[in-house]
Formats: sequence, C-alpha cells, structure tokens
Amino acid sequence: MTDGKFENDINIKLNTFFMKNYKLDFPIFENNPGLVYLDSAASAQKPGYVIDGIKHFLEYDYANIHRGAYSLSEKSEELYEDSKRKVAEFIGASSWQEINYTYNSTYAFNLLTSSFKKSGWLKKWDKVLLSIVEHHANIVPWLILKEEIWIEVDFVDVDADYNLDLNDLKNKLNETVKVVSLTYVSNVTGVVFDLEWASEIIKKNDIIFIVDASQAIPHFKVDIEKINCDFMIFTAHKVMADTGLGVLYWKKELLKKLTPAWWGWWSINWVKKEEFSPSGLPFRFEPGTPNITGAVSIFKAFEYIEKIWWYEAIEKKEKELVKYFLEKLEQFKWKIELIWSRKLEDRVWVFTFHIAWINSSDISDIMAENKICVRAGHHCTEPLMENCWLKTTFRVSLYFYNDLEDIDRFFEVLEKKILI
Ligand SMILES: Cc1ncc(COP(=O)(O)O)c(C=O)c1O
Repeated sequence: MTDGKFENDINIKLNTFFMKNYKLDFPIFENNPGLVYLDSAASAQKPGYVIDGIKHFLEYDYANIHRGAYSLSEKSEELYEDSKRKVAEFIGASSWQEINYTYNSTYAFNLLTSSFKKSGWLKKWDKVLLSIVEHHANIVPWLILKEEIWIEVDFVDVDADYNLDLNDLKNKLNETVKVVSLTYVSNVTGVVFDLEWASEIIKKNDIIFIVDASQAIPHFKVDIEKINCDFMIFTAHKVMADTGLGVLYWKKELLKKLTPAWWGWWSINWVKKEEFSPSGLPFRFEPGTPNITGAVSIFKAFEYIEKIWWYEAIEKKEKELVKYFLEKLEQFKWKIELIWSRKLEDRVWVFTFHIAWINSSDISDIMAENKICVRAGHHCTEPLMENCWLKTTFRVSLYFYNDLEDIDRFFEVLEKKILI
C-alpha cells in the first residue's frame, strides 16, 4: 500500500534532487524485494504518485461524466477534460479536442482503420505502407482491410543500422499509396526512426501519415508539430498510467471528415425508433462510458514526469543505463548475439537477443526463477522476425527506474546459469 504518501510531492522532489533513485517512487519495488524488472517495453511500473492519484479520484471525485448536473459528475468531467489538456500539452497538439481516448493502441488502430473503411477513405487497390518493424497492432487492422475491401499492404525496409530506409520509402511512394503508418520507436530494435525526414517525403505527396508513438512517449518528448503527422496513437500503460487507456490524436479538420466505425451513448445527440443523430466533436469517437479512471491516471503520470524535471531526467538516466548495458555486453559478445543496433545514439533502452543453442523461453524461465523479468518470443513483430530468419528471441527493456545493479544482476544470472 502506498498510504497516500506520494500525494505530497515533496518526497518525489527530494528523491529526484538528492538520490536519483527513482525506484523509491515505485511501491512495487518496496513490496517485492529483489525484483529486477526488465520488461518495461511490455508495460511500465506505476509510481506511487499515479496510484495515489487514482485512489484519491475514486475516493473523492468519482462519478460518471457527461450526464450529471450534480457537482461530483461535473468534477469528474472536468478531470477527464483536464487529462486531455495535459496530453495535448505534452505532445504539442493544438487543442484538447484533438485527443480521443480509446482502450489501448491496438484498439485505436482498429477504430481508425474501421472508420477509414466506413468513410470510404480507402478503396480497392489503394495502398497502405508500413515499416517492417511494426508491432502487430499496426499490421493486423490493415490486413483486415486487405481481406475486406482489397486494399494493398506493403512494407518499407530498414537500413543496416535499423533506421527506416528513406530511399526505400521514396521508391515505394506512388499515386496508389494513400496511407503511411509508421512506428516512432521499434519495440524490438530500440531504434528511433527519423520521422521528421519521413514526414517531409510523405506530406509532399499528400498522403495520410499515422504514427505509432507507443514506445516513444515513455522516453522522450514527442512533438506533433515537428513530425507533422495526421494521426498519432499510443497506449497509456507504457507511460506509467493504468491499463485500458489508449490515446488517439488527430488533426481536428480530419476528425470532422471521418465517420466513426461505431456509435453509442455520448457519440449521438438523439435516438428515435427509426433513426439517430450523431453528436458533434470531440466525443463522437468515444461511444459509451469511457475509462475515466484511466484518464486520471495518465494525467497523474504526466504530472509525475513534470515533477521529476520532465523527460530530461528520464533521458539522462536512460543514457547512463544504455551505456553501461552495452559495456557489460562486450564481455559476452562471443556467446550471445545482440540482434539489431549496438549504437548509443537515436535508440532507447530495448535490447533483443538470440542464443543459438538455447530456447528463448528457457532463458526467460531461468531469469524468472531469479526474480528477473524479461520477455521471450516474437514480441508481436512476426514480419520482422521472418525477415531476420528468427523464431524467438528474448528482450531486455529498461526504464529510468532501473539501476546499474539490475543490469549487473541480469548479466550475473546470464553468465552463471545460462552461458555455462
Ligand atoms: C510499438 C507498439 N505499438 C503498439 C503496441 C500495442 O499496445 P497495446 O497492447 O497496449 O495495444 C505495442 C505494445 O507492445 C508496441 O510496442
């Protein structure tokens, strides 16, 4: 239990200032002594500040929104909208009305692709370009459209450093391409794509540009204006908020033109026995009761990032960790293959490995026996794995609450129990 001790942010400030031991802000570590959590790319742990914020909301301010004239409902609604204001401010959107909440990234992609279909934005033989490193969340919904309305789906390659191959992108852009949908950061290679460059090429051709920022938002400042995308998607649980909340940003003028795939309460004005009238912006893409508690949780998560001095603190700590991790890895480079990038710049904290003679799931089992959380499998990037002739790998993903001892512990178990 956190007992509300993080509500008073003095604890966080003192900790950030003097100790820089961010683990102290995360109750999970106090409650699980010895835990080495190296799976933050799957989901981030939650700071006490977020947990207390959710608890406070449920204890003092909770009611359903959009419906009540009573003050509790008004307060709840205010918080819901404040949450969108905070998200808009964080990513540089021009208004909170450009922020739509869904339930995760996968859901947001499905909502978008289904709405494209319903609005006739994509037709037979229109092409959608993705990159080869995309997460399934940004592949499967397009493949469904391929099946349903016969669009084409093609993949842009990566270069030798695992950056987006801009030449391949240029070559593949022709008049049949209507949408380009790219991740900002790969959840497997850790490489940050140069989306400003990509955007220049894409927008010159007047093509819809979608960005999956699920692995970027937790780690560095994302600026919509610079990337100049039409839609951006991310999932809140990877940035220390609760599960069950996805963010779908879109340019307001596009929102007006798109018909939602699904309707329901609050996305409609009135219903008669024979017909209904859709509601206006900004809630027409949010049918039914939204995840209000999730909205509060992302508000609190972003407030927490502000309190530890923004992304600067996160980036600084992570650079340190990445450098240390790669130095340690040098000792093992003959025995364990780091798949993808070894570079320090333009990457985040994700390291994916392959050991030819051991099954990756056996590695994660041995790590788990030693209280170390890593992930084995294809990481929902099967087209990338197929391109690299790999079936399974294991992944270590760090966040700013990790420390050097976590990395030491990982390599110790690797050396003594796996590479023996
Ligand atoms: C790059 C990327 N996109 C999308 C997702 C899907 O997120 P969710 O499962 O929350 O929808 C993930 C999750 O790992 C991811 O890494």
